Amino acid sequence: MTTLHLAQYRSLSAVIVFIAALTCTASLSAQSIDDITLNVYKDINCGCCVGWIDHMQDKGFASKINHPRDLNGVKHELGVLPEWQSCHTAVTKEGYVFEGHVPAKFIEQFLAAPPEGALGLAVPGMPLGSPGMEMGNRFTPYDIVLMNKDGSSRVFAHVESAAAQK
Ligand code: CU
Ligand code: CU
Repeated sequence: MTTLHLAQYRSLSAVIVFIAALTCTASLSAQSIDDITLNVYKDINCGCCVGWIDHMQDKGFASKINHPRDLNGVKHELGVLPEWQSCHTAVTKEGYVFEGHVPAKFIEQFLAAPPEGALGLAVPGMPLGSPGMEMGNRFTPYDIVLMNKDGSSRVFAHVESAAAQK
C-alpha cells in the first residue's frame, strides 16, 4: 500500500512539474512575440520559406505554419495577384497579408500605420539576399510592393542593399 502511494505521489508531482514548465514557456513566448502570430502558408518542400520564418522569429514574430494542398488557391482567395506572388504567404489575425521574403523591419513599419485600403506588402519573386534567400554576399536590389485590396499597388520601399533590410 505504502509503496503504491509513493509511486502515485511521484508521478503526480512529475505531472505538476511538467505543467509548470509548460506554463512558464507559454508566458515567456507570449511576452517576446508581442502577441503577433503569423499564419504562414507554404509548400512543404520549400526551404527558403523556413529561412524567412526564422528571420521573423528573430525579430519577435511567431509563425503558425500551414501546408495547404492548393497554395495557389489560398493566394487567390486572399487577393494576392499573380504579379505579386512569391513562395509563401503570411497573414495576421487582422487579415493583413505579407507575400514572400518581406523583411520584418518593413512589416513593423506597415503594421504601425496600415495605409487605408491596404491588403499588405509583397516582395514578388525571390530576390537574392532577401531574408531567407541569403547566398553569401550576393544581393539583388528589389522593391517592396504595397498591395491594395482593390488590386492596385505602389512601391512601399526600395531595398538597395542587405544593410537596408536591418
Ligand atoms: Cu522563397
Ligand atoms: Cu520558400
